[in-house]
Amino acid sequence: MADYSEWRARDYFQTYYSEVVLPDEQAVLAYQVDVMRARGQRFGRGLEYGCGPTLHRAIAASQYAFRIDMADWLADNLSASRDWLLADIDNPDWKQFTHYILGREGHAEPTNQQVEQREAHTRKVVRGLYISDARWRQPLGPERDAFYDLIVSGFCLDAVSDDQLVWRQCMQNLLSMLQPGGTLIIHALHQCRAYKCGERMFPGANLSKDDMQDVLLDGGCTRASIDVQVIPCPDNQIYGYNGILTASAQKAPR
Ligand SMILES: C[S@@+](CC[C@H](N)C(=O)[O-])C[C@H]1O[C@@H](n2cnc3c(N)ncnc32)[C@H](O)[C@@H]1O
Repeated sequence: MADYSEWRARDYFQTYYSEVVLPDEQAVLAYQVDVMRARGQRFGRGLEYGCGPTLHRAIAASQYAFRIDMADWLADNLSASRDWLLADIDNPDWKQFTHYILGREGHAEPTNQQVEQREAHTRKVVRGLYISDARWRQPLGPERDAFYDLIVSGFCLDAVSDDQLVWRQCMQNLLSMLQPGGTLIIHALHQCRAYKCGERMFPGANLSKDDMQDVLLDGGCTRASIDVQVIPCPDNQIYGYNGILTASAQKAPR
């Protein structure tokens, strides 16, 4: 099993995001958009945790939050994100994802101009890029305790370690940054012990639907708000998994 010192941001982008918007990615992006829209108001402070070298979750969230911070453990990932944030409208890396997101929001045939506008908007909304370790009790320091009213995290905490206890602790650490009443949207690999990035295999925490449900309850989310779904993706067996967990929840009000 590889560790994250062997991670290559470009390998990850090439493996999962360089060709098409894969069906499982379509499903989780649609889920993210639907949950954010259903809240019916803009979030004040959003965080995308464990962004890797990706922008599509921030592009999706930028319409629904006044500001977004992004965090990841690896500087190589954050510098890939920074390159895109500083790039101009011609950068093609995330355009097909932006196009898909706009379609999900109801634009029947999004134009190039609409895609460019949304990406330009995202570049304004994203503020901080932070190095962070989810294993830290306060992953972004004491000043970010109960700070965010929206946290989005895709395939990060379940990929930190193959030890499920580590995942549980990381989840509590992440939830500590959510305000009372705030919304968490999280995606994880379903029952995966290792996933592929380039030629290397990285750890998976082997999670079930019940694991996700329980950890959200333990972390102070209200039972009524917790939604956990399994999205089958049999074609991804070559990458080490054949299903995805997607979940959302609200932390109990104070
Ligand atoms: C599978 S990638 C997910 C990237 C992106 N969110 C996505 O949806 O494609 C896993 C990410 O977890 C990050 N990561 C691994 N260990 C971490 C840790 N201890 N703390 C924070 N992030 C970590 C890696 O750097 C990597 O970007």
